[in-house]
Amino acid sequence: MNEPIVNLHDHARAAQATLPEAAWAYFSGGAADEVTLQRNETAWQQWGLAPRVLRHLQNGHTRCRLLGREWPMPLLVAPMARQRWAHPEGEAGMALAAAAQGCGMVLSHQTSTPLQDVAKLVTGEAGRGPLWFQLYWLADRGRMTALLHAVAQAGYEALVLTVDAPVQGIRDRERRHTTPLPESARAVHWPEWAPLAGQGLCMGLADVAPSWEDVQWLMTQTRLPVLLKGITHPEDAAQAMAIGVAGVVLSNHGGRVLDTLPATAELLPQLVSAARERNDQALVLVDGGIRRGTDLFKAIALGADAVLIGRPALYGLAHAGARGVAHVLRLLRDEFEMTMALCGCRTPDDIGPQHLRRLT
Ligand SMILES: Cc1cc2nc3c(=O)[nH]c(=O)nc-3n(C[C@H](O)[C@H](O)[C@H](O)COP(=O)(O)O)c2cc1C
Repeated sequence: MNEPIVNLHDHARAAQATLPEAAWAYFSGGAADEVTLQRNETAWQQWGLAPRVLRHLQNGHTRCRLLGREWPMPLLVAPMARQRWAHPEGEAGMALAAAAQGCGMVLSHQTSTPLQDVAKLVTGEAGRGPLWFQLYWLADRGRMTALLHAVAQAGYEALVLTVDAPVQGIRDRERRHTTPLPESARAVHWPEWAPLAGQGLCMGLADVAPSWEDVQWLMTQTRLPVLLKGITHPEDAAQAMAIGVAGVVLSNHGGRVLDTLPATAELLPQLVSAARERNDQALVLVDGGIRRGTDLFKAIALGADAVLIGRPALYGLAHAGARGVAHVLRLLRDEFEMTMALCGCRTPDDIGPQHLRRLT
């Protein structure tokens, strides 16, 4: 690709031109007909901006507070599995780039780089964003507590339990590629499962899916704050607050698990009200389809405390390693700052629903 790369869509094209077909299908694909995948991106456009002019903008900044600490930017890289399949720098390159751009990172439980190696690279970085660890539920509680211990020891600041994928989604594009995963895609902290021969839903997998009681147990096993990722129903958001989790991530897993869920941009207002009705300080993050600084701005205006981006960061990594990720995050950061200035917002606290108009 010789075209200049000026936005996140260009990064996607460059990644597609670089990655083998099977890897592109894995990283870019969604569940079934990919209705949710596509809707996630377009739904942000259902909101128009309503800028205010002639506002004082001196000493503006993008800083935000999450879990009691101030960070440079309300933007994190979402947890994504097997990043060394996208590029040899993998999670290490992703973490370094995020830290260098003042953004946070959530390391996936299915990381292809040891969690200790990733933490060591960035915990000492002064201007970085938060470093959190994403967990899938492990039915073996002994394994789970050992992992919790390792995560806390390594310096991660919060746990993000993903609750929307107790069984894997059916991704047609991926299923067309039958070649085994390369060694670079091995998830180093993921247990080798014995093949299931169970009865019941999904060959017995659903029998070991976590419940609200398991989340409560998890919270007693760690001093780290626990967030739940993959909450889409307002009643689940309220229940999460009722049992005292530190926050929720509104996510449909980037449209990769259950197709035809609404876009997260459509669900955000109701989810924020349900969570904050229960706890007016409720921490709410959102991901899905964020591709522009204006999308990030809209998420904050609809009540999110911060956003996560998934695929665009992977695409930057795939075709240019850490430099590519840094460029993706920098583009978003610049677009977000420009949107703030043009809407008359000096800090993220100034951004609110008054800056939006529903278009449809
Ligand atoms: C290739 C890929 C792997 C992912 N792996 C995980 C994972 O291990 N754990 C998790 O909670 N979410 C995972 N996700 C979902 C992301 O964390 C995030 O919710 C989603 O990508 C956000 O949507 P976006 O890609 O449109 O920004 C993955 C997403 C992608 C694209």
